[in-house]
Amino acid sequence: MNPTATHPAAQFDIQRVRADFPILNELVHGKPLIYLDNAATSQKPNPVIKALDEYYRRYNSNIHRGVHALAERATEAYESSRRKIARYLNAPNQHEIIFTRGTTESINLVASSYATSVLKPGDEVLITWLEHHSNIVPWQIACEKTGAVLKVVPINERGEVEPDQFEAMLSERTKIVAFAHISNALGTINPVREFTEMAHRAGAVVIIDGAQAAPHMRVDVQAIGCDFYALSGHKMFGPTGIGVLWGRTSLLDKMPPYQGGGDMIQSVTFEKTVYNDLPYKFEAGTPHIAGGIGLGAAVDYLDALDAEGIMAHEHDLTRYATEQLSQIEGLRLIGTAANKVSVLSFTLEGIHPYDMAPVLDHEGVAVRTGHHCAQPVMDRYQIPATVRASIAFYNTRQDIDALVAALAKVQRMFSGL
Ligand code: ALA
Repeated sequence: MNPTATHPAAQFDIQRVRADFPILNELVHGKPLIYLDNAATSQKPNPVIKALDEYYRRYNSNIHRGVHALAERATEAYESSRRKIARYLNAPNQHEIIFTRGTTESINLVASSYATSVLKPGDEVLITWLEHHSNIVPWQIACEKTGAVLKVVPINERGEVEPDQFEAMLSERTKIVAFAHISNALGTINPVREFTEMAHRAGAVVIIDGAQAAPHMRVDVQAIGCDFYALSGHKMFGPTGIGVLWGRTSLLDKMPPYQGGGDMIQSVTFEKTVYNDLPYKFEAGTPHIAGGIGLGAAVDYLDALDAEGIMAHEHDLTRYATEQLSQIEGLRLIGTAANKVSVLSFTLEGIHPYDMAPVLDHEGVAVRTGHHCAQPVMDRYQIPATVRASIAFYNTRQDIDALVAALAKVQRMFSGL
């Protein structure tokens, strides 16, 4: 996404963008697909599909090992993706881009390698109430192993973490602070720069779960100032099974390996193994080569789009969807932060979310129903689940209208009309 582009309306051509995503022409139960489950996974544009196809068709080979032509081509494509991602995130060094399976593995890497080597009994790890399970459970495991204590900053009724409360929970005992850039269940955008500065003033190391941010905004790790940033390829229009951990060299260098195996070593004897340099120290075994190459293609695709146009379009859709949904009787929006992205979680009075899902699906409308891997958020609102419509830049007002019409059908069915 090019942040310098201007005149959003003039430059963001929604029909042209939609034509890049072949799946948007699919029919579901004989109806046009209305894909509003983008927070779960986004769809893939042609250049990403082509990059995967080309790798497997024309130069499938392992990387960093062979000296034959295919191996060299695959290695160059994979490493060129790493360079693209480093530039895209404004990482100071490309060796700070560690390829992982996704955000979950990135956070587990830090929790397992960094956290368990620095935490002592009585130290604190601070997270927030709006975290995805992948930013809760790894810290619980790390705390169990080390005797550290997990602390949780509450959220208010709108689904916001209040900066005063966040700051009040920091102390000299806080060693690690982990929070989402954007909540997957509520859409809340956290003030990541402010939170990072507060955590650093307390002397803590900061890791940000960026899974939901990367699809909606340009992320600049140096501007945020954090120490680690995790993201998933499949949420940012790239392949599944590939993600990134960005970390500062000074921290990554001192961290022990996360997994042992091929490629993460310089030499191995039974007496002693010398680990490889960054980033390979953290990339044991044959990686998801096609995924890495495909993620590079996704970054190229996003880079060529007009970031301001996308943000304006998504903002318009969020406002429109909020207005339309708010008019539905008995609908309760969960997550109404002043600063939020295009995630609309809601309940309908008298109808369980799981009962709504099949009716919506039958209308071709794909949404997610459940606790969204954020059970503490559901507990906070004393609900078991929500229906979540999550919007990407290829969605339109017509998609929102289709959702609203499908919800009207749900209400008719359940009121027996
Ligand atoms: N974390 C993904 C979601 O929010 C799977 O749906």
